[in-house]
Amino acid sequence: TRVYIPLDSFAVANGADEIAEELQKLSDDRGLGITIIRNGSHGMAWLEPLVEVETLDGRIGYGPVEPGEMAALLDAGFMTGGAHDKRIGNPLDHPFMTGQTRLTFKRCGITDPLSLEDYEAHGGLLGLRRALEIGAEATVEEIKESGLRGRGGAGFPTGIKWETVMKTEGPKKYIVANADEGDSGTFADRMIMEGDPFCLIEGMTIAAVATGASKGYIYLRSEYPVAIRVMREAIRRAEKFGWLGVSVLGSEHAFDIEVRVGAGAYVCGEETSLLDSLEGKRGQVRFKPPLPAIKGLFGKPTVINNVISLASTPEIMAKGARYYKDFGMGRSRGTIPLQIAGNVKNGGLFEVAFGLTLGEIVETIAGGTNSGRPIRAVQVGGPLGAYFPRSLFDTPFDYESFAAKKGLIGHAGIVIFDETVDMMKQARFAFEFCAVESCGKCTPCRIGAVRGLETVEKIIAGERPEENLELVEDLCNTMEFGSLCALGGFTPYPVMSAIRHFPEDFKGTPMREAAE
Ligand code: NAI
Ligand code: SF4
Repeated sequence: TRVYIPLDSFAVANGADEIAEELQKLSDDRGLGITIIRNGSHGMAWLEPLVEVETLDGRIGYGPVEPGEMAALLDAGFMTGGAHDKRIGNPLDHPFMTGQTRLTFKRCGITDPLSLEDYEAHGGLLGLRRALEIGAEATVEEIKESGLRGRGGAGFPTGIKWETVMKTEGPKKYIVANADEGDSGTFADRMIMEGDPFCLIEGMTIAAVATGASKGYIYLRSEYPVAIRVMREAIRRAEKFGWLGVSVLGSEHAFDIEVRVGAGAYVCGEETSLLDSLEGKRGQVRFKPPLPAIKGLFGKPTVINNVISLASTPEIMAKGARYYKDFGMGRSRGTIPLQIAGNVKNGGLFEVAFGLTLGEIVETIAGGTNSGRPIRAVQVGGPLGAYFPRSLFDTPFDYESFAAKKGLIGHAGIVIFDETVDMMKQARFAFEFCAVESCGKCTPCRIGAVRGLETVEKIIAGERPEENLELVEDLCNTMEFGSLCALGGFTPYPVMSAIRHFPEDFKGTPMREAAE
């Protein structure tokens, strides 16, 4: 009998490794003949570790399982999907899953992440084979036609980026996967790398075929040890299979991939500092132009894309641009893996076509807060994203609608706060974060973040709140329009949205105490 125990960090953090060890021992002792498969996560974080058993009625899940609990589960008839208060039935029939459109994450949680056989049996490699068949120019056209935009946050059309690299002459070209997923509350890159690593490898290989690149790097953050291990092993297996190496699946293309581990700076998620870091230098933002597409890694034409942008391309190539484009709204086409976190009842990854409203996401899908108190604020787009109040819950989730309300969807991280949140402290945190993470290259960010932090602290201490608020607004204006990269440029978003939407929190502590 096959039993699935996720190797995903959600599950491992909650004891999945211990549970797997325990179950192996129980199987040996009781002669149950269990084969344990370490799968990826389905993305229902609150149910992890979600342990599934293959029965005559399909896969039946139990979760969240705790270490030490397997013996009792076996006694309750786990092997045949018996009743238990942790039994959730087939995970794919769970309402959290049935409401999704899984294109990029279609295999995640279902397959054995390191089995190429499983990968191919579930549609893997079809996209790459088609790219090899139709060639570089038609592949670039297909990606352009699909409407896919950069899932790292900026939303730049992926096909146009590839076209620039394809048309730029160079003795060597590179594909870089930005896996330095640093935004708060985000985990989509990690989940795909742990749960379906071949999908990223396939996306990178398609990009290589489309642009003529021969070398790929995955810049992976050190905080993701499981993803590092799984990616490296998947690359090794792809090489052995004849996918990566001197000839990609028997074609004239040569392509290989290496994992490089970052050292933990948020700014290394910015593409040009990532390239500096990859070259062995201190990660510092470069001036643009030249664009990385023209002069990137080691000065050569480079495709640098977020993990999810790359991992979305195999399905586009396999099913065709039209199929992908039919999902979504306006200029935001296809699906987006929402990552729901913070003070939330049902947190996790929810892949869906663009266009759901923020309210539907946080209240209906996520089920509100874990504390049971009403939601007060939602931060979308990481630590540099704006805080949205309830009055903006009707905002559709797409690039343009969020931008129109002075927000950003970024990498689609959604962090929920209940009514106990102090928005002035959140504004303080935004400046503090920027001060700590600034690369120091430009003045508005390097000095602005420190002065901003000091000024918000004065407001917190009740020192001339109105005057200091004006100073903060002025400073934010300088940072937004004068910073060299998104770190300094977007720090005003959380600060100003907190001030604009939650003015009652910015009156200064002594005044607030008096009012209370
Ligand atoms: P950007 O707008 O400067 O560039 C977007 C991308 O398009 C870049 O890769 C750029 O090189 C490329 N590009 C622009 N014009 C091009 C052309 N003509 N040909 C080819 N390529 C072209 O934005 P940037 O600074 O790269 O990213 C900012 C975003 O990053 C923010 O919106 C924020 O949401 C997001 N972000 C994401 C984080 C994460 O953890 N995923 C962390 C921090 C910020
Ligand atoms: Fe560096 Fe900040 Fe300027 Fe970006 S905005 S280049 S992180 S100093």
